[in-house]
Amino acid sequence: MRIAMIGTGYVGLVSGACLSEFGHEVICVDKDAAKVATLRAGGIPIFEPGLDDVVAANAKAGRLTFDTDLARAVRGADAVFIAVGTPSRRGDGHADLSYVFAAAEEIAAALDGYTVVVTKSTVPVGTSRKVEAIIRGKRADAQFDMASNPEFLREGSALEDFRRPDRVVVGCDTDRAREAMREVYRPLFLNETPILFTSRETSELIKYAANAFLATKITFINEMADICEKVGGDVQDVARGIGLDGRIGKKFLHAGPGYGGSCFPKDTLALVQTAQELGAPTRIVEAVVAVNDDRKLAMARKIEAAFGGVKGKTIAVLGLTFKPNTDDMRDAPSLVILPYLQQAGATIRAFDPEGHKEAAKHLQVDYRAGVYDALDGADGVVILTEWNEFRALDFARVKAALKTPLMVDLRNIYRPSQMAEAGFKYVSVGRP
Ligand SMILES: NC(=O)c1ccc[n+]([C@@H]2O[C@H](COP(=O)([O-])OP(=O)(O)OC[C@H]3O[C@@H](n4cnc5c(N)ncnc54)[C@H](O)[C@@H]3O)[C@@H](O)[C@H]2O)c1
Repeated sequence: MRIAMIGTGYVGLVSGACLSEFGHEVICVDKDAAKVATLRAGGIPIFEPGLDDVVAANAKAGRLTFDTDLARAVRGADAVFIAVGTPSRRGDGHADLSYVFAAAEEIAAALDGYTVVVTKSTVPVGTSRKVEAIIRGKRADAQFDMASNPEFLREGSALEDFRRPDRVVVGCDTDRAREAMREVYRPLFLNETPILFTSRETSELIKYAANAFLATKITFINEMADICEKVGGDVQDVARGIGLDGRIGKKFLHAGPGYGGSCFPKDTLALVQTAQELGAPTRIVEAVVAVNDDRKLAMARKIEAAFGGVKGKTIAVLGLTFKPNTDDMRDAPSLVILPYLQQAGATIRAFDPEGHKEAAKHLQVDYRAGVYDALDGADGVVILTEWNEFRALDFARVKAALKTPLMVDLRNIYRPSQMAEAGFKYVSVGRP
């Protein structure tokens, strides 16, 4: 098949590369000329493990190309995926659909022959029909069907998630579109990946329901962690104790500084807005959003308390990105926690294995070249993101580098007993 992928960000680039690996001929389009130039020159504009190899192999095989010209990519395509950003609209938290609608206008102008136009971006219920109306309004003669195909990949393990997803969800109304989407995902059909065909509205809602549910799980265990801290309980044991119940499941029960990233914060907010407008408010998700917002500040205060006040202190911070194995800083807890500490008089020295470039757009801190460089002479260390390289620190070296052996670990990557033995004052989340 010939596929046009509109938007070559975290989702578009991974999806485009993997679909070309499935054997399709894919053109990834982006209006960001610098991004396209980087890709054409063999570079990768984001950090995603393994992506460079897949892009290089398929580009070399001639199945994967990059373009700034949307019309050129859409002309003659069997399927056009819209994978542009849908950030929170400033002010009201609604999903900003301006990029999606602008792409729809451009696609309409270029359609020729039968095409399936697919929304892969996360979009509120009803958006697929709005995109269809835009295209029909502009091109009454166009032969196309709409499909909704939300993406569930996780940054950091995006390739695996795309190649071996738990499920693929496709919303469409016609047999022809269904057949085309089956063809797009043919290798996954052969693998017996569950592929769920639904209405477009249902498909759009599945994506928000999934993210809101996962955000709720995280927020729930965070509140259990707060209770543990009051009573001397251990939230990891609570998580294990409930997670072994198959109805609950073990995943997404790690207490920490609150969820962040490019999806959960904006998607929970957008769901709240849509639901309110529909007259079917989601009070649970509203509470999740509020609790998670409060949590980031609460974690900043937790750090402040652990340091006995931070005025005039130097704090070494390990990890800035919202999670490990990505350079994505969107809505990372660090963006709330570090400015709070700076406001309170702390000097921040930070090290993140991949995040400096993105972080520097938002955080004015002293970026250090490595872990021990960040620790050197600091009054204590805070672990904000659980990168693997922070999981096996040389405690003797850490102690020697720090002025005082204080560690605040917001990801619970060490055991309190181990840290006590090593002579640290150790503060973690929801554990005695
Ligand atoms: N990042 C994730 O982990 C993830 C996971 C699942 C779903 N999603 C959803 O996928 C969508 C894309 O997310 P992302 O993280 O890849 O965003 P992103 O910001 O990394 O990428 C979007 C890209 O689209 C480009 N773009 C915007 N308008 C365009 C146009 N008219 N023509 C061509 N290119 C255009 C931008 O320049 C940008 O490069 C969002 O709706 C998001 O919610 C993201």
